[in-house]
Amino acid sequence: MLLHSLIRYARAYTPSSADLPSFPVYPAAAARQVCATLGRASICGRAIFQVEFALSRGKTSRGRTAVIVGAQWGDEGKGKIVDVLTQTFSVVARYAGGHNAGHTVIINGKKFILQLVPGGILRPECTSVVGNGVVIDPLAFLKEVASLRAAGVKVDGNLFISNRAQVILPYHRMMELGSENAPGRVKIGTTSRGIGPAYEDKMGRRGLRVADLLDIQLLRTHIENACREKNMIAHALFNSEPLDADKMFREYANAAEKIAPFVRDTALLLNRALAEGKSIVFEGAQGTMLDIDHGTYPFVTSSSATSGGAATGTGVPPTSIDTVIGITKAYCTRVGSGPFPSELLDAQGEDLRKRGNEYGAVTGRPRRTGWLDLPLLRYAGMINGISWLVVTKLDVLDHLTEIPVCVGYKVDGKGTDEVPAQACGYENIECVYRNMPGWASPTQDIRTVEDLPKAAREYLAFIEKETGAQVGMISTGPDREQTILVPEFTSELGLKSN
Ligand code: IMP
Repeated sequence: MLLHSLIRYARAYTPSSADLPSFPVYPAAAARQVCATLGRASICGRAIFQVEFALSRGKTSRGRTAVIVGAQWGDEGKGKIVDVLTQTFSVVARYAGGHNAGHTVIINGKKFILQLVPGGILRPECTSVVGNGVVIDPLAFLKEVASLRAAGVKVDGNLFISNRAQVILPYHRMMELGSENAPGRVKIGTTSRGIGPAYEDKMGRRGLRVADLLDIQLLRTHIENACREKNMIAHALFNSEPLDADKMFREYANAAEKIAPFVRDTALLLNRALAEGKSIVFEGAQGTMLDIDHGTYPFVTSSSATSGGAATGTGVPPTSIDTVIGITKAYCTRVGSGPFPSELLDAQGEDLRKRGNEYGAVTGRPRRTGWLDLPLLRYAGMINGISWLVVTKLDVLDHLTEIPVCVGYKVDGKGTDEVPAQACGYENIECVYRNMPGWASPTQDIRTVEDLPKAAREYLAFIEKETGAQVGMISTGPDREQTILVPEFTSELGLKSN
């Protein structure tokens, strides 16, 4: 099928296409002939790569891949698991969201907060890619790059951004602030980074992509037109002060120059890496319940945070995804407004917040806290196809003698496992809790599952039984070392055991 279309393509674009084979053909021979006819340096570089890929299929095996996805409302600790996987994975590709995300990674006591740059950046041998599904604020990106450089982190030649990613511009923030504060609007409690309006423009086919940012003429025209339109709308709806298009153009033209060395066709880069046998981690941002389609709509972010987003957000086909790793805290948190069935609004919730240091990495807002919600975890398992679970912040529960877990929902007195489509549907949900025995002893320095207290092992086994996913890793503290790796997980993902 692939060769068929390539040969048609070759016939259309090459002068000597008469030499190309007609069908039926022996695929490898045809591919070789197409390569030879087109020549490596022709305009059909991408097609050549595909042919080369087809040719090499029988000879090399493609690299393995894993998607890291938040199984709750974000902030599950994805940064740390990405960091662990990059021991052996060659590439980390971020596929959704923007600088609304904040991944905290602590290495040897030094804290890094990554917002746009993937976690792989902290290992110089790893390639980091910001995929086409991400919305990029050029100024935020350059600021992050500058602070990484200042900390001695290598960012040149190992960090790339997609030429197809959408660009966040100042009018996106203006529109978001206006609409979040407008009377009568549902307040989502966003991070105020302009994420939603940038995705709106993407879907409305009026966005600016990174490739367009580098095209100075186009950039000027785009900014002038967009500012005229957005200023009028924002003034009419929210009485906002107009933005100066000329000033914006100068600022972003300057940023474009600095960003240019990072820009690549990252879909090509990633597929080529896979064909060369390199392994890729797809780094999710936010979490399943913040996904634009599957989350607690409208209290969601504006991107596809779930594992499906890894394919559309990077250009790597779904058939090349091997494993999905879902990350869950041992309890539950969310930032911003919206449903949260197992939320604790009492002193116990405050205690979890303090012990877990549950304050937003980006906005500093206190996170809402609650008990682990298994119906939601099962839902996340179904939507993402989670095969491995990583349980983080187990140590935050160390002091408890009893741990309530939400094992099911009741609506009008009847048990249900269905997650409501409407935010108001959650108001009728009553959580059914089961009290699990606590372990009431420290776990931070434990490095194997066998050494965990019996009650902690039972807690993890219960999560496995109730979700059908295997726990592959447990995090018992913020440092890289405070990690327990399960041997089957280590061997499936080719990691070094700790
Ligand atoms: P936005 O992504 O800024 O539009 O915000 C939409 C919702 O997603 C708000 O409730 C935010 O608090 C939440 N949100 C966005 N990014 C993150 C994140 O990285 N962690 C947790 N919540 C997030």
